[in-house]
Amino acid sequence: MGIRQTGDLWWKNAVFYCLDVETYQDGDGDGIGDFKGLLRRLDHLEGLGVTCLWLMPFYPSPDRDDGYDIADYYGVDPRLGTLGDFVDVMRAARERGMRVIADLVVNHTSVAHPWFQASRSDPESPYRDWYVWRDEVPKDGPDGIVFPDKEDSNWQWDEKAKQYYLHRFYKSQPDLDIANPKVREEICRIVGFWLELGLSGFRVDAVPFLIETAGIDKPGDFAPHGWLRDLRAFINRRRGEAILMGEVNLMPEDVRRFFGDEDGDELHMCLNFNLNQAMALSLARGDTGPLLHSLQTQPSIAPEDQWANFIRNHDEWSLDKLTEAEREEAFKAFGPKDSMQLFGRGLRRRLPTMLDGDQDRIRTAYALAFALPGSPVLFYGEEIGMAENLDIPGRMSVRSPMQWLPGPSGGFSTAPPDKLHRPIVGGRKWGPSAVNVADQLRDPGSLLTWMSGLLRVRRATPELGFGKVSVLPVESGAVVALAHDWEDRTLLTFHNLGEAPVTVEAKPPGAADWEGLITVLGEGEAKLAKDGTVTVELGRYGHRWLNAARPGDVFRR
Ligand code: NOJ
Repeated sequence: MGIRQTGDLWWKNAVFYCLDVETYQDGDGDGIGDFKGLLRRLDHLEGLGVTCLWLMPFYPSPDRDDGYDIADYYGVDPRLGTLGDFVDVMRAARERGMRVIADLVVNHTSVAHPWFQASRSDPESPYRDWYVWRDEVPKDGPDGIVFPDKEDSNWQWDEKAKQYYLHRFYKSQPDLDIANPKVREEICRIVGFWLELGLSGFRVDAVPFLIETAGIDKPGDFAPHGWLRDLRAFINRRRGEAILMGEVNLMPEDVRRFFGDEDGDELHMCLNFNLNQAMALSLARGDTGPLLHSLQTQPSIAPEDQWANFIRNHDEWSLDKLTEAEREEAFKAFGPKDSMQLFGRGLRRRLPTMLDGDQDRIRTAYALAFALPGSPVLFYGEEIGMAENLDIPGRMSVRSPMQWLPGPSGGFSTAPPDKLHRPIVGGRKWGPSAVNVADQLRDPGSLLTWMSGLLRVRRATPELGFGKVSVLPVESGAVVALAHDWEDRTLLTFHNLGEAPVTVEAKPPGAADWEGLITVLGEGEAKLAKDGTVTVELGRYGHRWLNAARPGDVFRR
């Protein structure tokens, strides 16, 4: 894969940015974010250096799970605008060189969806077998409850149908029967529809649940992974550049399966929950052990596929793959109060509050996330160091309105704070008077200014998206030292997870032939000795990215 073709595999070097239209920018003063508002904020995203937006569900919905309960797959929630407003955003994003993907939530619909209403009301309805109905709760049903705060079973008795229906999430989200070919055909129509309107792919919600057949009475010859393969082939027939980014929070080997066999012909990307959770533990301990172990045992994927790396997302920071003792350690460091934890498995906080607003620590955490092999995904507000609002219940604590300006409604809306869709973060430390886009834009030392620099460097560093990563042994247990090789380029990245400043020595293979080192990110001394030893000084929670200067390389930075 040469530099000429990197654009063909755009997702391998993209910077994704996830946002919820509902909480991003209100354009009509009703307290709810909308597409008209988002349109006005695309310049911010372009300036930040985002290359692909990920829109959380914006479809008509009774909103019992923040839009992850869809009542119509072919429309826009009227509170957020119209299809016309959506297309305006698509057009303006394209004009600014940004792609757009959106959540595809087809494991389940809302109970309010007309399919479900027809299905439950009439055994003869053509939609009856679009859902999973059983006379009794079956023994072979799926295990585990996803939202144990509200649910104690995956089955709900329905008075109208006089049967139980399957729901892996809330009972207001009945599961579709994926083994039914008509359901699968409809999913293709849905993705085809949005591809036609310009989407470059989908973040596929809850993929393991979507393809599971446990609980389905007669799954017939449905082949779960065969179908994922078909879905990828379908979207790429319709639109060559379209991708599927899957939410697959399973153990590493099980996630690997969702990329497909050797040729990697199922999901193009998987959100990297394992590396994310290992990073949480490493950050909490100030010790690289868990992260490096995860990185070194991460299964390899096909050249056209990619990991999607992130620190925080729109849900709780799930630490379900850690051992109980490890999880307790992370809880103690980052969310000691019960009110900060959720489901016993995660933290409902954003990173800056967990790191007590420590700028060195915050920046090194993001630099590290961007240096891990894969493509980074930011969650809105991370670029300015927004906090969570723990007054908002459950997972929604991190989905408070974006903070654009100082002032009570943070420039999110002209409506007063008590009329906002969700309460904004309050207080003098984290509220909009202290944390907002406008002030940070004018401040060369702000997180936003730094973050835009990080994105600029990341975009110009295909070594990270396309290269081969190797761990460089160093003496300090607090420093992650990596070499990223791609084509004739090598990038070295150093991240100090510890409070103490440290000087490390590394010996990247072949470095004795280099002419020097060029700093692309971070500050401090860095030296290359004749024998190829690289010596790097790192401040407390410091980081450094260095490019190898090879003889005759005119493209060095
Ligand atoms: C995963 C999403 O990230 C979460 O927010 C949602 O509640 C469930 N899937 C159900 O759709």
